[in-house]
Amino acid sequence: MKRMLTTLLSVASAGVLAACGSGPAQDAGPAGGSTGGAITMGFSQVGAESGWRTANTVSIQDAAKAADVDLKFSDANGEQENQIAAIRSFVQQGVDVIAFSPVVRTGWDAVLLEAKNAGIPVILTDRAVDTEEPDVYKTFLGADFVREGQWAGEWAVKEFAAAPAPVNIVQLEGTTGSDPALERTTGFAEAIATDPKLTVIASQTGDFTRSGGKQVMEAFLKAHPKIDLVFAQNDDMALGAVEAIEAAGKKPGQDIKIVAIDATRDGMQALADGKFNYLVECNPLLGPELMDLAKKVVAGESVPARVVTEDQTFDQQQAAAILPERKY
Ligand code: AHR
Repeated sequence: MKRMLTTLLSVASAGVLAACGSGPAQDAGPAGGSTGGAITMGFSQVGAESGWRTANTVSIQDAAKAADVDLKFSDANGEQENQIAAIRSFVQQGVDVIAFSPVVRTGWDAVLLEAKNAGIPVILTDRAVDTEEPDVYKTFLGADFVREGQWAGEWAVKEFAAAPAPVNIVQLEGTTGSDPALERTTGFAEAIATDPKLTVIASQTGDFTRSGGKQVMEAFLKAHPKIDLVFAQNDDMALGAVEAIEAAGKKPGQDIKIVAIDATRDGMQALADGKFNYLVECNPLLGPELMDLAKKVVAGESVPARVVTEDQTFDQQQAAAILPERKY
């Protein structure tokens, strides 16, 4: 089965191009003085918390090389203050364009205004921000996280359709305050609300890491004698949960079912091995599309305010079939 890496240029209405109308790149030109050849991009990455993140970083670095983009890459190690410092430094250096994947959704207004006032366009990748400030970024490239949560929940409703009540679910949340954690929680809750016998009995952050997922799952197993399903908001936390479940003498995928989001190679392997039951993909290969968008905004061209990546879902048989060609 082939992965679809195409992106949907999600132009919901004419108004969707609003972010392109009066932004700094078109008004003042890039502060770094791009000459139409190579451009300079400052990129602030969340960190290296997951297999997804590593694949995303490699995609961005490889795509920059291929597109002749001079990439100044900064790893925030999961800290918003590091991202703010990196963005300030990019502004001072006068890069042509800044891109970043925000650790959390709030708290960006001041630094985004600094970039805007310096005439440097900003692109959000992977995660959104909450801001009241107009025109502080040109576009947001990334997945539909609410939809991902809904897919996981829709699968759970079908999987447990014939099961007796109650169906007890524990949720391993991503980083508190991050866009994917908030939106996947919302999407999953919406979907399982269609069957009242499915209940989230416990929900806690595992910070998108394997160790976090393991630790939280150990606590859940001690506190709750009957757990039917784990909804892990990424593969790494689900893999940590597998370790905790096995250490408790239970079989992941059988005694306790697992649905997760990302569909990285490690997750896909766990699904093919029967330790996960279902995976929702989140495509990390954003590099090529990011470089295209960056060149356009630096050139003053219009871009859609929102570019949604296309994802798919996998059951155990599909995972076994796709594993040999899974690259990340
Ligand atoms: O923002 C995307 C999420 O961040 C991925 O699902 C997760 O693995 C990563 O850490």
